[in-house]
Amino acid sequence: MPTDKAQLTATKSADTRHDIHELIRKRWSPRAFSEDPIPQEELEALLEAASWAASSYNEQPWEYFYAHRSNKKGFQLLLSCLKPGNQEWAAQAAVLLVSVARTSFSKNDRPNRHYMHDAGAANTTMMLEAASRDIYGHMMAGFDYEKTEDEFELNMEQEPVCFIALGYLGDPEQLKEPLRSREQTSRNRKPLSEFTTQIL
Ligand SMILES: Cc1cc2nc3c(=O)[nH]c(=O)nc-3n(C[C@H](O)[C@H](O)[C@H](O)COP(=O)(O)O)c2cc1C
Repeated sequence: MPTDKAQLTATKSADTRHDIHELIRKRWSPRAFSEDPIPQEELEALLEAASWAASSYNEQPWEYFYAHRSNKKGFQLLLSCLKPGNQEWAAQAAVLLVSVARTSFSKNDRPNRHYMHDAGAANTTMMLEAASRDIYGHMMAGFDYEKTEDEFELNMEQEPVCFIALGYLGDPEQLKEPLRSREQTSRNRKPLSEFTTQIL
């Protein structure tokens, strides 16, 4: 890995108080992707990793539609569903996916209250597997919901969750400001005291 990529990875690595797993530190959401394609076999490994997330009643309510950048028609279809601000950088991704969730249980058609939770767990599991292979993902809520439902012919029980841009790390210089600067600044999180309460 060239030094500048190594530096970027170090800057983006989570600065944590506790000694948490390296993969969790390493994952982050880039906007600058390299030209390198993701081999289909690698992508399938990421999708399989996603499928090993836990889900309510093991429903596995997730579904993915995806295209490699080399597939111009499919990639353009996915890209066209994004909000312009996301299109600007996601056009450089190696693969675009849309994460879709089934909102009811397949065995009895009752509402699945946890479909969004479970699809999110699958997406995050995918992101961690990706990071282990030096592939990075950027999830996006900035997309046109109605267009996505139309283009992918989603039925009443399928809900688009988010889009995901995947690729190998690129050069932040390929981005315009303010994204270029953001790409190179460290990440931060709320302290535990702000989101946890120990019941005594
Ligand atoms: C569900 C979801 C939706 C997001 N939507 C967008 C988006 O539309 N555009 C964008 O640039 N980033 C988006 N993000 C990325 C977040 O801004 C990013 O994960 C957050 O700032 C934390 O940064 P990190 O992932 O590098 O730790 C989204 C992330 C998630 C999980």
